[in-house]
Amino acid sequence: MDVGITLGNSLTALDIGCGTGLASELLLSSMLGNRISQIDLLDTSEEMLERAKHRAKKWRVNSRLLHGVIEDFLGDRKYDIIICCSVLHHIPDLGRFLSDLQTMQVDGGVFLHLQDPNGDFLGDPTLKHRMCELSDRFVRLPNWLRRFNPTRIAKSLSWKLGSRQAQDYMRRVSDELIIAGVTAKPMSPQDIWTVTDIHCLDGLGIRTSQLRGYLLDYELISSRSYGFFGRLFSDLPKGFKRQELSLIHTRAPNGLYIAGAWKIARG
Ligand SMILES: C[S@@+](CC[C@H](N)C(=O)[O-])C[C@H]1O[C@@H](n2cnc3c(N)ncnc32)[C@H](O)[C@@H]1O
Repeated sequence: MDVGITLGNSLTALDIGCGTGLASELLLSSMLGNRISQIDLLDTSEEMLERAKHRAKKWRVNSRLLHGVIEDFLGDRKYDIIICCSVLHHIPDLGRFLSDLQTMQVDGGVFLHLQDPNGDFLGDPTLKHRMCELSDRFVRLPNWLRRFNPTRIAKSLSWKLGSRQAQDYMRRVSDELIIAGVTAKPMSPQDIWTVTDIHCLDGLGIRTSQLRGYLLDYELISSRSYGFFGRLFSDLPKGFKRQELSLIHTRAPNGLYIAGAWKIARG
């Protein structure tokens, strides 16, 4: 993505919800990457941070692992680049999260978000048509996406709630939450899906207009949609890849995912 920014060298970056560190790795391999000298990796999951630590050993930049949520690190450091990949739909209070994020951004810094369910087009008939075209070729849609389709909700939930394997898994998750003191009472599988994939299960996704309402000090400098067949480029059969690229290049708005680059105007 060409974000047309005028950042210096020796940049600092924060990857929020870093998971295994994949988004940071991609950022480092981009044109911006060789101007980055420090990446901090933040995640609520120690297991994910452990995997990110392993990945970061190959990087030529300094990295720091931060365990917790953004609130735990307010006032700690400010960053030129903040990246959130496939995270926003997990955040219960998006307004608060983005307001905290702004306080961690240096003047003129850039916030990148990607792989968010494209709230403005989730019900788009052309998108649905393309996804059906692909699924007819036996490609499985992501689980969270299946839940958008009302005719599949019952099927999907019955798998989630019904299979013995799924029930055991969810029971263990619920037990862990009680042991960790996160919840007082057992949670049903449906409760758990509702709190983890919040902005997917509500069918609303992430909308640019909604982000604009929260990111008041920022200007949107670039945005793209992708996933025009409901899958990432790497998962598409050859013929579909060509169409995907063409839709990306013509900046079609109605892919399953959105990505945006925002620059903070303050300062
Ligand atoms: C779908 S994964 C995406 C991981 C990674 N960004 C990627 O694209 O491969 C979402 C990650 O966000 C983390 N996460 C969820 N809520 C978070 C929060 N409030 N603060 C920090 N991390 C969070 C989860 O633990 C998980 O690792």
